[in-house]
Amino acid sequence: MSLFDGYGNRISTSFHEARDHYDLGVHQFLGANHGACEAFLASVTADPDFALGHAAQARAHMMEGRMTEAKAAIAQAEALAPKADSRERSHIAAFSLVLAGHPGAACAAIRAHVQAHPRDALAAQMCTNVFGLIGFSGEVGREAELLAYTEALLPHYGDDWWMMSMHALSLCETGQIAASQSLMDKALALNPRNANGAHFRAHAQYEAGETSAGRRYLSGWIADYDDRAVLHGHLSWHIALWALHDGDEAAMWAAVDSRVGPGGAKGLPINVLTDTAAILYRAEIAGFAVEPARWQQISDYAARYFPEAGQSFAEMHAALSHAMAGDGDRLARIAETAKGFAGDLVRPVARAWGEIARENWPAALESLSQVMATTERFGGSRAQRDLVELAYVNVLMKLGLVEEARRTLLSRRPVLAKAPPVLGLH
Ligand SMILES: [Fe+2]
Repeated sequence: MSLFDGYGNRISTSFHEARDHYDLGVHQFLGANHGACEAFLASVTADPDFALGHAAQARAHMMEGRMTEAKAAIAQAEALAPKADSRERSHIAAFSLVLAGHPGAACAAIRAHVQAHPRDALAAQMCTNVFGLIGFSGEVGREAELLAYTEALLPHYGDDWWMMSMHALSLCETGQIAASQSLMDKALALNPRNANGAHFRAHAQYEAGETSAGRRYLSGWIADYDDRAVLHGHLSWHIALWALHDGDEAAMWAAVDSRVGPGGAKGLPINVLTDTAAILYRAEIAGFAVEPARWQQISDYAARYFPEAGQSFAEMHAALSHAMAGDGDRLARIAETAKGFAGDLVRPVARAWGEIARENWPAALESLSQVMATTERFGGSRAQRDLVELAYVNVLMKLGLVEEARRTLLSRRPVLAKAPPVLGLH
């Protein structure tokens, strides 16, 4: 007897218990909630031969930063794959490419896979979101590519909260804020506990300049969100960022210390590093004093968790941390050897951070200017890349070019020009 998952895909298990736990895991995983790993474990405990259950568990392990366990689980899935059907084998093979360190091939495999199996949500998910395979492709125009990807899938999903939230995210990141907010409200009405939905509802509010309303909304939403879940630290960063924009320094540091930075956050190292480095430097740009020990701490964290070159978005923030901590050796390694998906941009931005730390503003402007045309290639969201936008504006300010700074912000990030979070630009 064949069973089908919650999205109508045939699955190679005849155990209802395995199917039910798998569906629960998919629900938790797609909503960025805690509990997916436990659910997938229960699924493969009920049916140890369920290959896709093992692959799903590998996904959940990876999402929680346990790469050794993820590789063991995908090896189990690969061993059992001959018992699975062609969709499941294709799904497992695509994720194997991710874990083997071949994101480009994985992205191509997923794009082909969803042509045949558009409702294989767990597979489709790999190319969605700003941290997905398209988001981290390093390609010019990847935001438009993400929009085209979710737009093509959306009609296959009917009133599905997850796909609606993913398309709303794509709309937000291409500047279609009202359409994003409208679709995200529908998605959140169907599943109010979808953290991806709350996350990009907050992004839309950020893009609309709704600081007070956004701060209120997200602070309320996160109160019921498990602090072990993958987005807890990053949503706390959004709250801290809005506190910064509001001039509420005490609330900003409270959030950074308890939920964003090393020691406080339980999230993925890439979020801990990038969110902490970004808020520290954005605080400096806004005129708040940042203790040197904070930079030393995040520099040490970056060196520990990202010792190898490769993840450009992380490296861009690691270089900032090393520069501000005054660690020339760590900085030089990135500035000279970065070779990830946007390595050619990481090298000049790393040099710029070093020049900024030395207050060599003309040289900083020269280096930073080299990356401004295509910052989307770094990956991440627009709100995250405002780190680079604000750094550029701040360099202009340091050079006494106040009018140029004002015009730059107005032309590149008009939402921030209303109340610039830059000292001296109000
Ligand atoms: Fe975000």
